Amino acid sequence: MHTRTLGPFKVSAIGLGCMNLSHAYGVPPSPEQGERVLLAALDAGVTLFDTAALYGFGANEELVGRVMAPHRRKFTLASKGGMGGVRGEDGVMSRVIDGRPETLRRNCEDSLRRLKTDVIDLYYLHRWDKNVPIEDSVGAMSDLVRAGKVQTLGLSEVSAATLRRAHAVHPITAVQTEYSLWTRNPEIAVLDACRELGAAFVAFSPLARAFLTGRLTDVTTLDAKDIRRPMPRFAPDTYAQNLRLMAPFADLAREAGCTPAQLALAWLLRQGEHVVPIPGTTSLEHLHEDLGAADLDLPDAVIRRAGDLINQQTVVGNRYAPQATGEVDTENFA
Ligand SMILES: NC(=O)c1ccc[n+]([C@@H]2O[C@H](COP(=O)([O-])OP(=O)(O)OC[C@H]3O[C@@H](n4cnc5c(N)ncnc54)[C@H](OP(=O)(O)O)[C@@H]3O)[C@@H](O)[C@H]2O)c1
Repeated sequence: MHTRTLGPFKVSAIGLGCMNLSHAYGVPPSPEQGERVLLAALDAGVTLFDTAALYGFGANEELVGRVMAPHRRKFTLASKGGMGGVRGEDGVMSRVIDGRPETLRRNCEDSLRRLKTDVIDLYYLHRWDKNVPIEDSVGAMSDLVRAGKVQTLGLSEVSAATLRRAHAVHPITAVQTEYSLWTRNPEIAVLDACRELGAAFVAFSPLARAFLTGRLTDVTTLDAKDIRRPMPRFAPDTYAQNLRLMAPFADLAREAGCTPAQLALAWLLRQGEHVVPIPGTTSLEHLHEDLGAADLDLPDAVIRRAGDLINQQTVVGNRYAPQATGEVDTENFA
């Protein structure tokens, strides 16, 4: 597997997003299947594993810790704090953004314990808590670096301006934000700011939460708890409109000798040497298909055509529902 630079780490050009092994897209797979996927990724050369305290409200870090702790020296471990769960009066957990220094310190201790490790290689602020100056949250995280609990720092879903403010407090190693053919918001300024500051750009939901694979054709069958359900682009009528883009995209992939998922990931890898996509999957077959994108050397014309077919102008609908839109930093709106 080709490698890319993420601060002091050399990581596989494609990392593994671990979220959907515990959370997000309907009923999660069994812990045994989660273990198979993690170990197969490691065997296939993946050296960047991405989790968060939020995923499964701790369950994902516990899975990653249990399975990966024996292999800890072989990979770069990324996790996130500042967004977790609170139990409501009805007993239902809901997520809460909290970037206060004392919360971040506690989150980090909890993550270290669940991950069965002494140090997290890359620790992200999952969302900027707009009630707390970014300098205060990043200041608390820099104390965690000094204490040896985390090695480097990252931010998720921030604007270029917020990135620069944070970077002035402590060097930011990576920004993780949604980026794919159908979500181009980071192109506004964040990609360039990362390049300029020497930060990696970690692209989450690089397959547009399955849309770009061409295999999710009926969103009415999504589980009631699937987090895509409230997303405007996954509303049945909107999704049907967007699906029309997939036929020419699949043709382009076929002509180029790859699958739509691989073309989507190859497009991302060509947007800059500092871009590292982290697709997520519960399937061994999909895992190997996705990782195959790192070996593709597609002509410029194919990459350009892919970008012309699917982009902010051709896609219909916002990516998040209003409440979640309000949680991201302004330049990343929509
Ligand atoms: N920082 C943040 O706020 C944030 C937010 C969201 C996600 N993330 C990170 O980004 C990672 C990836 O994001 P994601 O899981 O949302 O999006 P994604 O990788 O764009 O999409 C995952 C979906 O695509 C499907 N899929 C993957 N490969 C496939 C293939 N070859 N063929 C058909 N279907 C395929 C998966 O289903 P199968 O299981 O069936 O393969 C799953 O439903 C997460 O795990 C997490 O680490 C971060």
